Amino acid sequence: MSLIHIQDLSKHFKILNRRQGLGGAFRDLFSGDYRTVRAVDGIALDIQPGEIVGYIGPNGAGKSTTIKMMTGILKPTAGTITVNGQVPYANRIRQAQIMGVVFGQRTQLWWDLPVIESFKILKEIYRVDQATFDRHMEVFEKLVGLKELYSQQVRTLSLGQRMLCDISASFLHNPQVVFLDEPTIGLDVSIKAKIRSVVSELNRVRGTTIILTTHDLGDVEALCRRIIILDKGKILFDGPTKKVTSLFGAYRTLKLQIDDFDDTTLSSLREKLAGRFGRDHGVTVASIEELWTDVTIDQARTPLSDVLNFIMKTFPVFDVRIVEISMEKVVQQVYEGALG
Ligand SMILES: Nc1ncnc2c1ncn2[C@@H]1O[C@H](COP(=O)(O)OP(=O)(O)OP(=O)(O)O)[C@@H](O)[C@H]1O
Ligand SMILES: [Mg+2]
Repeated sequence: MSLIHIQDLSKHFKILNRRQGLGGAFRDLFSGDYRTVRAVDGIALDIQPGEIVGYIGPNGAGKSTTIKMMTGILKPTAGTITVNGQVPYANRIRQAQIMGVVFGQRTQLWWDLPVIESFKILKEIYRVDQATFDRHMEVFEKLVGLKELYSQQVRTLSLGQRMLCDISASFLHNPQVVFLDEPTIGLDVSIKAKIRSVVSELNRVRGTTIILTTHDLGDVEALCRRIIILDKGKILFDGPTKKVTSLFGAYRTLKLQIDDFDDTTLSSLREKLAGRFGRDHGVTVASIEELWTDVTIDQARTPLSDVLNFIMKTFPVFDVRIVEISMEKVVQQVYEGALG
């Protein structure tokens, strides 16, 4: 039996179209002027015990909304969802015993308390016995070495330290499934690597099922054999991660700041790149966002250094960054048939 079973699942939010000012707020009370956001719109999936699944998609795709339904925080608008045979929102207390959850954007620890006090509270809430608790703390000490942080107030931890503590806390009661919603957001490479190794070790040793949402394809590549791509509340792809990374792993985006850049320079950049590299060589230019212009390169077809050299010679570039392909680009290419 699947650990998580989801069928025709939807969550629609009714949102009031607000008007400005106090008078507007008053009229809003009676306007009935609503629009519907289809955050999750008819998805189906099954997750087996012990899997680590990457659940990805651009901003607003519906990832967090799905996780909130799986954890029982939100009640679905329609459809079926069971975790370990139970309906999450109907059995929240029982379900909490078998789940752990980390929302990267906020902490489940108590802001003003030292880390260890938060852990002790969670130990009581989840009725974890002392021996299990001690073993858990020992395992985490081996994995990440947090001991020196335990006396520190949560509010004083760095983002990376806090995230490691949050992850540790979510595994404390040895749940069957842990939901990690953007656990690596805003973290640097070394702490990301640490989080990846902790998660993969816990999955391996305890067999914990893990659902991971992230904007970093690298996290999924490192951890998940299976990937689910979501956009606008619908599943676009559910299959082997390899299939996705072999297509997109080679993509990098050059973010450029070019002096005096405008729409004319943009079309000139497009033309010159097409002239130099051809139209079908995996070099695409996106429009300007703030001051940055994005040039995405498929390194399997055209070396990034060639493109960078060419642009540097042709345009007054004064700042460059290289980033991995964005979720938006992955999704765009999936729509264009990249995953067949
Ligand atoms: N409580 C709510 N009320 C109204 N609309 C909501 C609510 N929660 C989410 N939404 C909307 O539902 C859509 C999906 O949001 P969700 O947070 O699930 O996206 P996400 O995939 O987690 O995005 P991100 O990568 O930015 O975290 C968005 O359009 C969002 O504005
Ligand atoms: Mg989210």
